[in-house]
Amino acid sequence: MPRVLVLNGPNLNLLGTRRPDLYGRTTLAEIEKRLHALGEELGLAVEVRQSNHEGTLVDWIQEARGTADALVINAAAYTHTSVAIRDALEVFEGPVVEVHLSNIFAREPFRHRSHVSPVATGVICGFGPLGYELALRALAARLAPRQAGGGR
Ligand code: DQA
Repeated sequence: MPRVLVLNGPNLNLLGTRRPDLYGRTTLAEIEKRLHALGEELGLAVEVRQSNHEGTLVDWIQEARGTADALVINAAAYTHTSVAIRDALEVFEGPVVEVHLSNIFAREPFRHRSHVSPVATGVICGFGPLGYELALRALAARLAPRQAGGGR
């Protein structure tokens, strides 16, 4: 079964209570539960992690080489600042989906630049928690084209 590691960056542990106007009221634990259920449906082994620390995220991306087939990453504020996360993602061999709950292009100009996008297979933003589910579906199609009816 293909393994997908879903990484979440700083402040995403506060989902549900942090700026619900922007990010909604769904908690990260609820998102995790949904992703596990969807993973079962799609035949993917899903693991969800969150850290407020850049180096921890870099360690997890490095560790994913050989232990995960694909990554989903919402690097949160580090999206806009972290060359280290970009460099780590660049050497991961499998597909990488960048997710943001909010539409970063409709927000402040400093959020319009992503260091992750140039090394991502695809980007999903603006659909709230659904974005993570869309990312899993995209990966299922990519990792097992015949079962999921996908392809590239
Ligand atoms: C975010 C967007 C980022 O700009 C912000 O720093 C976040 C969350 C999102 O999911 O919309 O923390 O990645």
